[in-house]
Amino acid sequence: MKYDFDKCIDRRNTASFKWDWCNLIFGTDDIIPMSIADMDICVPPQVVDALKQRIEHPVLGYTVKTDKFYQAVQNWMQKRHNWQIEDSYILSTPGIVPAINFAVFALTNPGDGILIQPPVYHPFFDAIELNDRKLLINNLKAKSSKTSGKSYYEIDFEDFEQKAKQAKLFILCSPHNPVGRVWTKEELQKIGNICKKHNVYVLSDEIHNDLVFKPTKHIPFSSIKEFSDISITCMAPSKTFNVAGLCTSIMIIPNPEIKKALEDIMMKSGIFMMNIFGMNALETCYNECEDWLEQLLVYLDSNRQFVYDYFEKNLPEFTLADSESTFLIWIDFNSLKMEHNELEEFLVKKAKVGLDTGIKYGELGRGFMRLNFGCSRKMLEEALNRINTAVKELKKR
Ligand SMILES: Cc1ncc(COP(=O)(O)O)c(C=O)c1O
Repeated sequence: MKYDFDKCIDRRNTASFKWDWCNLIFGTDDIIPMSIADMDICVPPQVVDALKQRIEHPVLGYTVKTDKFYQAVQNWMQKRHNWQIEDSYILSTPGIVPAINFAVFALTNPGDGILIQPPVYHPFFDAIELNDRKLLINNLKAKSSKTSGKSYYEIDFEDFEQKAKQAKLFILCSPHNPVGRVWTKEELQKIGNICKKHNVYVLSDEIHNDLVFKPTKHIPFSSIKEFSDISITCMAPSKTFNVAGLCTSIMIIPNPEIKKALEDIMMKSGIFMMNIFGMNALETCYNECEDWLEQLLVYLDSNRQFVYDYFEKNLPEFTLADSESTFLIWIDFNSLKMEHNELEEFLVKKAKVGLDTGIKYGELGRGFMRLNFGCSRKMLEEALNRINTAVKELKKR
């Protein structure tokens, strides 16, 4: 391998949310945190070089989007996602969570229904509830695979259509965090047909779009012709290249009316500039780091397989979701028969690992935890050993 993903990197005292807020989140520093969705993996060296080169110029004034920026996004979408987009579709945003909130303001009014599919990324709930919109829930259904022993999440389309009738906006998580599904063309088509029939806009959060394991293939929602006029696709280099701290993301909006509505809302919020380092890193990631991503995917895939094999061999009583993408695995710990807060305490105090608590993802997350395997194999193995030892100790009692 050209790049060393095995390197263990100490992130403490770097203002890392995951490492420097352990005490605040878990009440102790004495754990391996596997919670927040960034990776304990160094960014591509090309990005480090590009940022160093930029800082050689000692003026960091207001920044505009360059042709190079637009081209980098367009080339990447064409090359990796087979979607030809125009400059005019692209809006930059300081993050995808802000983009979701902008879409809520631009496309709905207080009291309007917004549909989501729990268990799902928790800021989706906030974007609806904190902005006085009506939360509509279409729970995903877990199907248990008899052959692999894993759970595979699917959409209950009958319920989806019932809820869509009351909705103005649907926030799709594609690929899905935390269950790891990559939605098929057929599923996206069904979603789109229902949303179109009931005049529902779709915001597709595709932040995990590049981290998809073969042979599965990600399809950008707005790239499906029939649905390009009702939708927004959000993406970013944040997860793909581990640059979330640069707060630089993209909205792709083929429909000019929807784009104008978003631009107006962003203007009202005073958000139109780009971060110079974020733009620089984005261009470098998309123009120069595809080989790094290809190797990262091999590494992440082997970590994913390691987690599955480890649980099957040592902890078969827990069911893991069949994660087709991301560096996250959704784990059902309900066989421990603990209350959710007891489970949290057990993992922190006895196993000394900090997993992301499932309850944040909705009621279906009770008894579940999300494990982040975007780290060195050594750290991953240590964390799994800790969980295994704690569970074995518990059983002895
Ligand atoms: C599905 C999803 N959307 C958005 C985000 C965060 O996006 P941003 O940091 O760009 O606001 C995350 C981070 O974990 C995520 O998993």
